[in-house]
Order: sequence, then C-alpha cells, then structure tokens
Amino acid sequence: MNTTRIVLVGTLILLGGERGLGKERHLEQVRTLLVVREARCTSCHESQSSEELNAYGRRLANRPAGMSWAERILQMEQSDSRLDGGEEKPEEQANRPSTPDSDVDGDGVANWVEILAHTSPANKKDTPEAALAARITAAVSCRMCHTATHQLGVGQEANPHNELGALLAKTVEKKSSNRPKDADAIRQQAEAVPILRRLALTKVKRPPKSAASYWHRIRLYRSTTDSGDAPTREAVQKFKKETARRKREGRSSPTTGFEHPAHPEDGFLRDGKGLD
Ligand code: HEC
Ligand code: HEC
Repeated sequence: MNTTRIVLVGTLILLGGERGLGKERHLEQVRTLLVVREARCTSCHESQSSEELNAYGRRLANRPAGMSWAERILQMEQSDSRLDGGEEKPEEQANRPSTPDSDVDGDGVANWVEILAHTSPANKKDTPEAALAARITAAVSCRMCHTATHQLGVGQEANPHNELGALLAKTVEKKSSNRPKDADAIRQQAEAVPILRRLALTKVKRPPKSAASYWHRIRLYRSTTDSGDAPTREAVQKFKKETARRKREGRSSPTTGFEHPAHPEDGFLRDGKGLD
C-alpha cells in the first residue's frame, strides 16, 4: 500500500467515525425540542411569577456564556457535574454540585424525563409515575427512527431504519430546485437538512393505517411504528386542542413554555419551527 492510499483509508475511517457520532445528535436534538415544548415556567423558575431560578434553571444559567439555549439544554442531559465537560480546575472541583447535571435533584429520574412528565427537575420529592417515565424513555429513544442500533457491522447494517427513519433519510426541502434523481444523491442531500427541519417537513405523514402522524406519536410518547402502541383518537384530539390553545394565547400565557424574550428559541431549535 502506498502512502497516498494509507492516508486516504485513514481519512475515510475518520470521516466514518465522525458521521456515526454526529448521527447520535438526531435523538438529542429531538429530545431538546420536546423539553422546550413541554417545559413550564416552573420547570426552571421557583414559581410562575418569579424570575428566580430553581436549581435546574441555575445550572442552565451557569453554562458557558455565549452558548445557545438549545445547546445548553441539550448538554445538561449528557454531562456530569462539570460545567463544560473539560478538565476540572481545583476550584471547580470544590464548587462541584453533589448531583450530576443530568439529574439535578438526584431523585434518579433524568431532568428531561421529569420535564416531559411535568414533574420538577429541581424537587427530589416530585417524581413521575414509574409507568409514565418508562413510556417516555421507551418512546424518546433511537427506536423512534431505527429498529435497532449498535448491531454488529457498520452504518445502515448496524443501525437499520424503521419506516420513519427511512422516510427522513430521503426528506429534502420541497422547493429544492436541484432535487437529485438517484437515491444515493437524495440521501446525501437529505443528510445535510437538519433533523428537526426534516421532521417539520414530514409532520403530517403517518404510518399505514394509523390515525396519528409520526410526529403526534412522538409527542404522545408512543412507538412511531408499532400498531399495537398507537395513541387513541381522543388523545390526539386532546393534544391538537391543547396546542391550538397555546398558539392562541401565545406569549401572553405565562403558564407554559420556554418561549420568552429572556430566552429565545435559538440554535438548532429554530429548525423545529412548525412542530407543535
Ligand atoms: C428550560 C428552563 C426555563 C424555562 C422553561 C423558563 N425559563 Fe425563564 N429563564 C431561564 C434561565 C436559565 C434564565 C436566566 C437567564 C440568564 O441567565 O440570562 C431565565 C430568565 C428569565 C427571565 C429574566 C430574568 C432576568 O433576571 O433577566 C424572565 C423574565 C423569565 N425567565 C421568565 C420566564 C417565564 C415567564 C417562563 C414561562 C413562560 C420561563 N421563564 C420559562 C430558564 C427557563
Ligand atoms: C429522528 C430520527 C432518528 C433518531 C431518533 C435517531 N436516528 Fe440514527 N439516523 C437517522 C437517519 C435519518 C439516518 C440517516 C442519515 C441521515 O439522513 O441523517 C441515521 C443514521 C444513523 C447512523 C449512521 C448510519 C449510516 O448510514 O452512516 C447511526 C450510527 C445512527 N443513525 C445511530 C443512531 C443512534 C445510536 C440513535 C440513538 C442515540 C439514533 N441514531 C437516533 C434518524 C434517526
């Protein structure tokens, strides 16, 4: 093997590795959007009318200045108590909170699960019912788009798509004037479209014979593909009514949401525009 080939093979392996890593952010970004959609002022503040932050809100606020809100919320769930995941300085070690950032109140339930279940991520005594927590963690997982992950093999073979994953893997902007013809080129173009944007583009698509769209199934913490785990018609109606009400009340409603001039939806969260 000559040097050029060695370098080429090395580069391909590196690129492959990075692509695999990047893909794991698909789930993290969807999860962050769900947190923002389901958060109440009191998920992060001491009370509805108070600007004072609770312990979870304080840790969000303490993340490095200049980091987007999207990235802050995403990173909370993957980090230990170090603020930026880097080397800890001795004074940081001394100030390190006793619980990891991913479970601020130390009740054994991750912050994001608590926010989705409408319990407080900052109050140890307030925890979701086990069945609901289990449903949330089962639905909001790689299984949303893959039938399995980390199997033997590489790429697709190791992480086969389910119907939603397959749909997203070929979803490109509708008005794309240079929409390619062959499947490989479409997949490549799709990969460059942010995952939340692709979910927004396909939000009314539904699995065969299902009354609920893939997106509604995700929002109601159901399997995207298992027909035995479909949401009821009533649950979908209730969800639609609730989101219509929130839209009507908009920013004038202080009771729900993250949307507030003090913390605009920024970064990759903007790609989720249009996703209830
Ligand atoms: C996901 C967590 C989260 C949610 C949900 C949230 N906030 Fe905040 N909020 C924060 C953080 C963190 C800060 C601190 C901002 C900073 O440090 O710049 C903040 C700051 C604020 C401020 C500015 C306070 C100041 O000192 O300037 C106001 C006002 C506010 N939030 C109101 C609300 C309202 C009203 C809601 C509900 C509609 C809400 N927030 C929901 C996390 C949240
Ligand atoms: C919202 C849907 C979605 C979720 C959730 C998701 N993926 Fe994927 N994944 C995709 C799509 C679509 C692709 C194909 C590449 C692309 O179009 O971005 C992909 C590709 C991959 C690949 C690369 C395979 C290849 O062809 O190179 C890996 C590895 C992967 N996903 C692992 C995971 C793991 C592990 C999780 C859970 C942590 C996960 N994915 C969660 C949609 C998703």
